[in-house]
Amino acid sequence: VVKAITPPNIRARKGSTPLVCLTAYTTPVARLVDGHCDIVLVGDSVGMVLHGLPSTLSVTLDMMIMHAKAVRRGMERALLVVDMPFGSYEESLEQAFRNSARLMAETGCAAVKLEGGATIAETIRFLTARGIPVMAHVGLTPQAVNVFGGYRVQGRGEDADRIWRDALAVSEAGAFSVVLEKVPEPLARRITEEIPIPTIGIGASAACDGQILVVDDMLGLFGDFRPKFVKRYVELGEAASAAIEAYACDVKERRFPAAEHVFGDELKAINGGEA
Ligand code: KIV
Ligand code: NA
Repeated sequence: VVKAITPPNIRARKGSTPLVCLTAYTTPVARLVDGHCDIVLVGDSVGMVLHGLPSTLSVTLDMMIMHAKAVRRGMERALLVVDMPFGSYEESLEQAFRNSARLMAETGCAAVKLEGGATIAETIRFLTARGIPVMAHVGLTPQAVNVFGGYRVQGRGEDADRIWRDALAVSEAGAFSVVLEKVPEPLARRITEEIPIPTIGIGASAACDGQILVVDDMLGLFGDFRPKFVKRYVELGEAASAAIEAYACDVKERRFPAAEHVFGDELKAINGGEA
């Protein structure tokens, strides 16, 4: 029996070896990443990556639940964390608890992730005290894209203290780890050195205690989205596109299906009736 990684296990990795994290949205991808990751995140990036939405703002709790259930079926070892979508937790402590509890009960995830720093700290404390482990997310928080006016790097120059205070606030509120998104390296290093919980970077340098990427981005599957902070380990999109073109060609030229793909009319009960 494989024992799954828990939020306290993640918390205890502070200052130890780097935490490996990726997103997943489906069962087959969960099966691929589970054995290599400490944390698998069902991110609300699913709205943009799999549903073609222009931002994460219209992702619903029902969408998160459906994808989280699919991912859960493909996992044995890593910690499963699920994003709370925009509008599902900001209104009140009660709303945050009700929706997080529903997400955990229906999907079997062991933790949720909320965007926001000092302003959401009270919510993190409320949930954690009531049995819901929380991963925080500060720096560039995509659900606030309209407040930021884009997806720019956060915490440059004078702004660094704001992000540092956010990271400190979520850590003091009881988050077991915190995602740092799109912040300069010196700030990521300072936060990582000064707060007692692991920092998981995305566009936040190798100074963090761990790294996360959107799996479709690092596999080269998410179109022409090529931000500086993503390393493409393979070009699966290009490979798929070439394969689809070859299939289309074969069909038009009647090269597919070939003899080996075609059923004859002899009865061959011995090999299972497949022929
Ligand atoms: O939604 C997401 O995929 C995320 C990670 C990139 C941190 O929040
Ligand atoms: Na997210």
